[in-house]
Amino acid sequence: MKNIVLIGFMGTGKSAVGEELAKLLKMRFVSTDNIIEQREKRPIVEIFEKSGEPYFRKVEKVVVKEVSGLDNIVIAAGGGAVLDDENMANLKRYDVMICLTATPKVIYERTKDYKHRPLLNVDNPVEKIKQLLESRAPFYAKADHQIDTSDKSVAEIAKEVLEIIHV
Ligand code: S3P
Repeated sequence: MKNIVLIGFMGTGKSAVGEELAKLLKMRFVSTDNIIEQREKRPIVEIFEKSGEPYFRKVEKVVVKEVSGLDNIVIAAGGGAVLDDENMANLKRYDVMICLTATPKVIYERTKDYKHRPLLNVDNPVEKIKQLLESRAPFYAKADHQIDTSDKSVAEIAKEVLEIIHV
């Protein structure tokens, strides 16, 4: 079975789709964010607040390196993990890299009621989403495949992934 890595912006469905895929394919699901929180014994919001984003990125880098050696796995990489060249090289060790996308409006709607994403806890989240999407576009474009999740259910997106990997 092909090991799959899901990348993409916050709120594009990486965790929900990853969990669904892992269930369908009887593989293990791993999220770099979850591992970071377990390891740090505190939520990401607190890591950003107390230790700063550079510290978070350092821990993320270690975690990405570790999980890139695992097999029989579906991994969801935190939305900013792909900005780092070494992370990208490690994530490319998986068989297939799929980027989930969505429009800024959909991302805003999906994320607005949650406060666990420090980068979006700002006065004008829509503007922030647009800015980050623009600056990150070249990084997300490095995936093997893109799936626009804007108006799709988790089951529909998972089905598209299965078609891509020919299952
Ligand atoms: C981030 C995305 C988050 C998390 C952190 C930073 C980013 O993960 O890693 O808040 O820089 O885009 P999700 O994409 O899983 O929300």
